[in-house]
Amino acid sequence: MSQDHESLENLLSEDRHFSPSPEFAAEANAQFDEYAHANMDRLAFWEEQAGTLQWERKWDTVLEWQAPYAKWFIGGKLNASVNALDRHVAEGRGDRVAFHFEGEPGDTQTITYAELLIQVKKAANALTEIGIVAGDRVAIYMPMIPEAAIAMLACARIGAPHSVVFGGFSADALLSRIQDADAKLVITADGGFRKGAAFALKPAVDEALKGAHNVEKVIVVQRTKQETAWTDRDIWWHELVGKQSTEHVAQNFDAEHPLFILYTSGTTAKPKGIFHTTGGYLTQVAYTHKMVFDIKPESDVYWCTADVGWITGHSYVVYGPLINGATQVMYEGTPDTPHKGRIFEIIEKYGVTILYTAPTLIRTWMKWGDEFPKAHNLQSLRLLGTVGEPINPEAWMWYREVIGGERCPIVDTWWQTETGAIMISPLPGITATKPGSAMRPIPGISAKVVDDNAVPVADGHGGYLILDQPWPSMLRGVWGEDERYKETYWSRFEGIYFAGDGAKLDDEGAIWLLGRVDDVMNVSGHRISTTEVESALVSHEAVAEAAVVGAADAMTGQGIVAFVILRSGIKHADGEELNTQLRNHVAKEIGAIAKPRQILIVNELPKTRSGKIMRRLLRDVAEDRVVGDATTLADPNVMKLIAAGLQSAKDED
Ligand code: WT7
Repeated sequence: MSQDHESLENLLSEDRHFSPSPEFAAEANAQFDEYAHANMDRLAFWEEQAGTLQWERKWDTVLEWQAPYAKWFIGGKLNASVNALDRHVAEGRGDRVAFHFEGEPGDTQTITYAELLIQVKKAANALTEIGIVAGDRVAIYMPMIPEAAIAMLACARIGAPHSVVFGGFSADALLSRIQDADAKLVITADGGFRKGAAFALKPAVDEALKGAHNVEKVIVVQRTKQETAWTDRDIWWHELVGKQSTEHVAQNFDAEHPLFILYTSGTTAKPKGIFHTTGGYLTQVAYTHKMVFDIKPESDVYWCTADVGWITGHSYVVYGPLINGATQVMYEGTPDTPHKGRIFEIIEKYGVTILYTAPTLIRTWMKWGDEFPKAHNLQSLRLLGTVGEPINPEAWMWYREVIGGERCPIVDTWWQTETGAIMISPLPGITATKPGSAMRPIPGISAKVVDDNAVPVADGHGGYLILDQPWPSMLRGVWGEDERYKETYWSRFEGIYFAGDGAKLDDEGAIWLLGRVDDVMNVSGHRISTTEVESALVSHEAVAEAAVVGAADAMTGQGIVAFVILRSGIKHADGEELNTQLRNHVAKEIGAIAKPRQILIVNELPKTRSGKIMRRLLRDVAEDRVVGDATTLADPNVMKLIAAGLQSAKDED
């Protein structure tokens, strides 16, 4: 293997095992024969799972696989929103709570399945009234409020693929996504509440729409009631949706009809529009939600803290839980507003039984101190989950002890925007978990760790994580970029999906995720490409060249460190101010999540003879290590110059 070999091989051994209690195991949705059952006949197994959905027309063929193109449940017809809503109401579950919504300022809403269905029907009628038809793309740019889920389900109901853009992204990022998907409509809000104040969203939409686009209308939910500039294309949600009929008969769509596009960062500056279709996606999100989270819809209160702007929000706030008829908590704000115990207070208030969150938040809680969780009764919790990045064993143990009271199984779930649903995870009633390991592929999924030649590595060794069998919720492509789809995922190993992650098998064959092996950073569980941040920096007038690396960060997993060469004539002297300017510039171009933690002004960047920046060496500098082998540099002195430059900058301070 390449330069990452060492880090992939390098892993402490972990001998602790935690088995579920006999009581948990006895009641679990997934019982011990689940793997054998799936292994007997993988396709029959997925057909059986698809059979739990409501289909207007059953499929003729379970899978058509011509690598790298998969079609699942061909010939089948169904409607995603009918599966999420109508079905429950028709079967007598209309009075069950779908969402306990908690606004950051403390306002609340309790929304039953019957009420959610009415809202979605009205919103679907509204979309139809303004001319949205099946196949049209709709951009959704919203805070974490019920209307975000309602908008998604209304789009799904009429067959208009949604493209949710995280509300933290900038106007520029929004525009490029609107353009790429050629969206006809934007659904947004005046703003939302975060960190104790109202933030505005609508101005970013107005700013974005100064660019070239085919957006005809903007529907605006009134959330904060702040003053909002208005144009002819804007319509208030409450005026348009409010007057609609509560009747709407959903049309059924082909199993392979696009359900949504979701943009994610790759190794180039341009985000990829990952698109998912309907039948296979819904099958796998419903199955995994039921088995991995052991959901008991009559008694559980499930809370996934992800924003709907990410895939986790799509699969495990909107589609999976609603299809399974779960009762959920949805929270608008940040975990430390108005105090650092907010999440725990909400767990106690609603009696949350299942909590699914990100390692970065767990580490933040650890830093804040045990007194915050300890001030609340967390006895209702019975299962804990994590996603987004590797969880370090200390954080896992803390989660288990302090949040889970040592009684809750932990499911560390590995998956991606591209995989659509969970792929590697313990099954909570079966698996003896190890702190920090995602353990093994779920039933019906084939994942392997391989070497450079696609040969599976032996236990105790590291390599690349691959998926060698198609799965129902797999991406069907990169929107409008077929070559990129093939190149990015299917070219490293012929006909095999390469996830971009390094992994290791321990001596018991459990899988340990070791982070990305490409130029993609993972900051607080969010994927950001080094190139994307570099392009943002270079678009600033003071910057000639930039190289960005993800450096290990105790809190956020990785932190963004940028090495910047200034244009001639720009003085280093106003370093501090320039630094702030550059960080703000990146926030404007991409969004606040992409702001570099640190910007280092340098005179040279380490490049190979072919001009490729050697990020590995910059990572050494960013992580304060002795710089590694620099012999393949075009100019081997560069690293010395960088180190010397940084030293003299420090001396000047
Ligand atoms: C990348 C996918 C899937 C929803 C959240 C992120 C990393 C994800 C884990 C985990 C170690 C993980 C991988 C993956 N990742 N889950 N349990 N352990 N790493 O979705 O933005 O598409 O990012 O997140 O590097 O490739 P995403």
